[in-house]
Amino acid sequence: MEWWVSIPKVELHAHLNGSIRDSTLLELAKALGDKGLIDFSQVEHVILKNDRSLTEVFKLFDVIHILTTDHTSVKRIAKEVVEDFASENVVYLELRTTPKKNDSLGMSKRSYIEAVLEGLRAVSSVDVAFTPYSEELTSLSNPVLSVTNDICNGSMRKKIFVRLLLSIDRRETAEAAMETVMLALEMRSFGVVGIDLSGNPAVGEWITYLQALRFAREQGLYVTLHCGEVPNSKEIHDMLDFLPHRIGHACFFDEEHWIKLKSSNIPVELCLTSNFRTLSVPSIDAHHFGDLYQAKHPVVLCTDDSGVFSTSLSNEYKIAAASFGLGRKEMFELAKNAVEFIFADILVKEDLRRNFNLAAKNLEL
Ligand code: IMP
Ligand code: ZN
Repeated sequence: MEWWVSIPKVELHAHLNGSIRDSTLLELAKALGDKGLIDFSQVEHVILKNDRSLTEVFKLFDVIHILTTDHTSVKRIAKEVVEDFASENVVYLELRTTPKKNDSLGMSKRSYIEAVLEGLRAVSSVDVAFTPYSEELTSLSNPVLSVTNDICNGSMRKKIFVRLLLSIDRRETAEAAMETVMLALEMRSFGVVGIDLSGNPAVGEWITYLQALRFAREQGLYVTLHCGEVPNSKEIHDMLDFLPHRIGHACFFDEEHWIKLKSSNIPVELCLTSNFRTLSVPSIDAHHFGDLYQAKHPVVLCTDDSGVFSTSLSNEYKIAAASFGLGRKEMFELAKNAVEFIFADILVKEDLRRNFNLAAKNLEL
């Protein structure tokens, strides 16, 4: 495991509340239980259950959201999630989350994202670079410089780039989705780079969000879609025709979908453990990662929900290597190649490329 942890990695598909630590979730549940607001014994059972179908995963998210949707908890979870990814040498993290409104707590979609940003600012174990690169370099109060500068200065502090994607939940209305896109546009200078469409794939119609997604793209935001998590041929075709900047999962694709995907060259965020645990693929060996990798289609290994599925990005790399017979050099190249599909600007890409080249030398690859 040590080697998989040691290589630099890029995480492009991680849901904030799905990446929550088990210990934090249990602590929050216990606190609400002590206040008599929930029945802790019932919730504990749901949290600790190991095997969950896709439907059960969404039931768990409903429980998680009851426990986590207040400003203090959102800030704490964001801080811990970034610390956890940084501790396993994730050097670039695109974190996605659904902005939530809760009038009784004085929470608006904007204040929810502000709490996430506070969480990023509260990280102390590593330097977190989340504002656009040009602003990082010119800001006197921000000590985060490029990887090469850190080395020139003899600084050993680790750095992680973090960018945010705002998710639209498939339960939302078209108006609510547009509100999320407007918020993303307003918060671009705080590291928001794009929009994700997620939520229970058995609920709603993606077409509801087409206008908001189109508008987001026209305004220069990146768009990624959860696509093909359940069999829904027309939706998959329509989503691919939309030409999003990336898609996630692609589990229930048929021959025609593969042809369309491959000719479009849309990069795919692949989450092996998540897909296996939700029974979206029969086994890891049979996962479409193998075929896409062989076909040299752009793919990125991701965790999806490291907390909910008890995994880590290092673990996903280890599993992929073992299941598909890939060596360390090939896996390192896969990690490095992910840099090409990030939603951040060219300067971040260049910095990351330098970081990977340096790591390759150090690891004698
Ligand atoms: P949040 O957006 O930070 O609250 O993260 C949890 C949310 O992400 C869930 O409520 C879903 O809307 C979404 N999500 C997490 N995992 C999945 C998945 O596997 N498929 C679709 N949506 C997901
Ligand atoms: Zn996901």
